[in-house]
Amino acid sequence: MSRRKKLYEGKAKILYEGPEPGTLVAHFKDDATAFNAEKHDVLEGKGVLNNRISEFLMVHIAQMGIPTHFIRRLNMREQLIHEVEIIPLEVICRNISTGSICKRLGLTDGERLPRPIVEFCLKNDELGDPVVAEEHIAAFNWAGPQEVEDMISMTLRVNDFLSGIFAAVGIRLVDFKLEFGRQYDGDMVRTILADEISPDSCRLWDIVSGKKLDKDRFRKDLGGVTDAYAEVARRLGVMKDQPNLKVISNGDAE
Ligand code: CDP
Repeated sequence: MSRRKKLYEGKAKILYEGPEPGTLVAHFKDDATAFNAEKHDVLEGKGVLNNRISEFLMVHIAQMGIPTHFIRRLNMREQLIHEVEIIPLEVICRNISTGSICKRLGLTDGERLPRPIVEFCLKNDELGDPVVAEEHIAAFNWAGPQEVEDMISMTLRVNDFLSGIFAAVGIRLVDFKLEFGRQYDGDMVRTILADEISPDSCRLWDIVSGKKLDKDRFRKDLGGVTDAYAEVARRLGVMKDQPNLKVISNGDAE
């Protein structure tokens, strides 16, 4: 791993040059950040859990016919992915009101929205990833009209699929964030799902108890962050091959 050329280091992942042109290796770190990296901690085992949970979800999403950057998992912390040009937008899909939408629109926390709502935010840490309208996306050419249409339709399909898969294991998918990229193939370019889908990028509440099983445990100092991620992995049937993994060792796991 150390011989690979590091191309980029983000808050939760490192990207290395891949073994073949057009591929990259994504390495999942244990770092957790929130509030624009003002809050930072290292949560032992988080990277391993997110690598596995994201693999599981991306594989199933690909099986539904939605193209993704995921090729295959390489080891506990790394996956091989297609290189893409990341579209500079975060696509957020919400089923239940919570977080920033409540502050912005004065909504009561925890209520089912009349229908799933898709929002776009500009990927810009300095500005705090502000919500933008399709009008801004078109005017500043952050994405083309077809790309916007594709991102919305793929996000709604992913929402239906993920809502079902989580409901089946007693988890409510409250909201989540997706990122998309452009994959170039000669003269052709297509929009594919990129980044990760994990408890870092989703809000997941236990259907019965309402317990938060996602990054809000870190944001709100609720404790038991990796235990909650491990609970999500366990319910999804991920990591059955690693029953004694050390990630379940830091604190109040059963
Ligand atoms: O309330 P807050 O500002 O944390 O975020 P939000 O806009 O309510 O977030 C909606 C969903 O997108 C949550 O599941 C967040 O975890 C996720 N999100 C993310 O993964 N990365 C971001 N930069 C922003 C939101």
